[in-house]
Amino acid sequence: MIEIGKYLEQEKAKIDRALAERMPRSAPAAVVDAMRYSLEAGGKRLRPILALAVAETLGAEDESIIDVACALEYIHTYSLIHDDLPAMDNSDLRRGKPACHRVYGEAVAILAGDALLTLAFETIACYGSRAGREKRAIRITGELAGAAGVEGMIGGQVLDLEAEGAALDAAQVDKIAIMKTGALLRAAVVCGAIAANASEKQIKVLNAYASRIGPAFQIIDDLLDYESTTAELGKPAGADQILSKATYPALLGSEEARRRAEALYIDAVSALDKLDRPSGLLKELANKMIYRTR
Ligand code: IPE
Ligand code: IPE
Ligand code: MG
Ligand code: MG
Ligand code: MG
Repeated sequence: MIEIGKYLEQEKAKIDRALAERMPRSAPAAVVDAMRYSLEAGGKRLRPILALAVAETLGAEDESIIDVACALEYIHTYSLIHDDLPAMDNSDLRRGKPACHRVYGEAVAILAGDALLTLAFETIACYGSRAGREKRAIRITGELAGAAGVEGMIGGQVLDLEAEGAALDAAQVDKIAIMKTGALLRAAVVCGAIAANASEKQIKVLNAYASRIGPAFQIIDDLLDYESTTAELGKPAGADQILSKATYPALLGSEEARRRAEALYIDAVSALDKLDRPSGLLKELANKMIYRTR
């Protein structure tokens, strides 16, 4: 198998190319520039990579999986643009560059986020317009909308904002992580599986894997905010403490938070033992998501 570092580089390049090719061409430049700015600022592309890796794991040849991958990155990038707005986390730096609203202003940043969210669903509609993909596209639409919506990411973001300065217990912090971050990561895996024509049993196993790496990923995000630097992260370190966010390290301390992430990681990779396909790639990806420095 290809070395995981090389694999990540190669898949990221594939996704970057696909995102560039798909940028809307006949729309007002002001909003398209802002969309492109945030998309091209980079990012690890983990959600689209997860979808591609699941399809590869299931032996799916279908090249169209890249549409699903792009839709995931559109939704994620939109969520970051809005997350950084003054009314939310009020952050000036994202992916190593000034936040979208710092360059284009708040109004255009809000609209660029909205445009990326709608573009995600347009892309899935386009994917589903080819014969034989209709049912998969409908199911993927439901998964993505559910993950991005009030019972997923938006709901989690609301809880996250409400929790600023509040004394939460571990179950409440878990709920925020599962909703604001876990939902879209889970959808990345499940949508990759649906696009790859997975069996219901395979979807169930992959869902168990994804349900654990999502919250683990957020714990590490919280830990890095505590322990890393702005230069390394490409976003302001220490921001959670300034905003009195309800995070795992704040509640449990860094060591206990890390133990919790590692326990979730072990559960995630153990779940894959029930998959009837070689699962080395997905295990390595989970490892990279937990033992990361940015
Ligand atoms: C950051 O996500 C926001 C969270 C949901 C924790 P990533 O760490 O995947 O951000 P990028 O895409 O690499 O910038
Ligand atoms: C954001 O969580 C989750 C989203 C849905 C965007 P954070 O607010 O912790 O993400 P960062 O640290 O700003 O990337
Ligand atoms: Mg936030
Ligand atoms: Mg934030
Ligand atoms: Mg964070």
